[in-house]
Amino acid sequence: MKFFIDTANLDQIKEAQDLGILDGVTTNPSLMAKEGITGKENILEHYQAICEIVTGDVSAEVIATDLEGMIREGEELANLHEQIVIKLPMIEDGVKACKYFSEQDIKTNVTLVFSPGQAILAAKAGATYVSPFIGRLDDISTDGLNLIGEIRMIYDNYGFETQILAASIRHTMHIIDCAKLRADVITSPLSSIMGLLKHPLTDIGLEKFLADYKKGN
Ligand code: E4P
Repeated sequence: MKFFIDTANLDQIKEAQDLGILDGVTTNPSLMAKEGITGKENILEHYQAICEIVTGDVSAEVIATDLEGMIREGEELANLHEQIVIKLPMIEDGVKACKYFSEQDIKTNVTLVFSPGQAILAAKAGATYVSPFIGRLDDISTDGLNLIGEIRMIYDNYGFETQILAASIRHTMHIIDCAKLRADVITSPLSSIMGLLKHPLTDIGLEKFLADYKKGN
C-alpha cells in the first residue's frame, strides 16, 4: 500500500519524507488556502516546491469545471513537473477530461468520489487514481470504509487498473482498515500516519531494556 500525505504544508511533507515511508502527496484548493498559498503563480510555485521534496506523485487539482478549462489548466500543471498528477472532480466534464488525459498518458486522480458508480466511471475513463472520501461519508452517518470494499470488489471483478486512493482519512484506524480492505493507496494527514508508530508496550519495553542494560554497565 502506498502512503501519500494529504497536505500542502512543506514542513509536514519533509517530516513524512524523512521518515522514509512517503510515496506521494495530495493537495486540494482548501489545503492550499490553509497554508496561505493564494494566486495562480504562488500555487504553481508551491507545487514545484512540493515536487522537489518528494520523489513520488503529487496531485494538483484543477479549478475549472468545464472541459476546455480543465484541459487547459491540466496541461499547464502537467508541464510544471513530471511528478504532477492532474486531479479532476467527479463531474461530467471531469470524466471527459480524465479520458482526454489518459489518452495522452498523463496521470489523473479523480476526486470527490462518494459512490461505487462514480468509481466505475473513473476507471472506465482510464483514471490513474480514484479518490473515495471516507471521512466525509462517515461525517454524514454513512460507512466510508464500506465504499472502499465495494470499489475493490468491482475493480477486481473486471481487472480495472485504476488505483484506489482512500482519501479524507481522519484517524489512524482508517489507515489500518484501508489496508485490510486492500486500498492501493491512502492519503492521510501526518498525525494519522504518525499514530501508526505508537504502542505503550513498545515504550514500556524499551524503557525496561535500557534500564536493564544500565544495570550491567
Ligand atoms: C483528497 O485528495 C482530499 O484532499 C482530502 O483527502 C480531503 O479530506 P477532508 O475530507 O479531510 O477535507
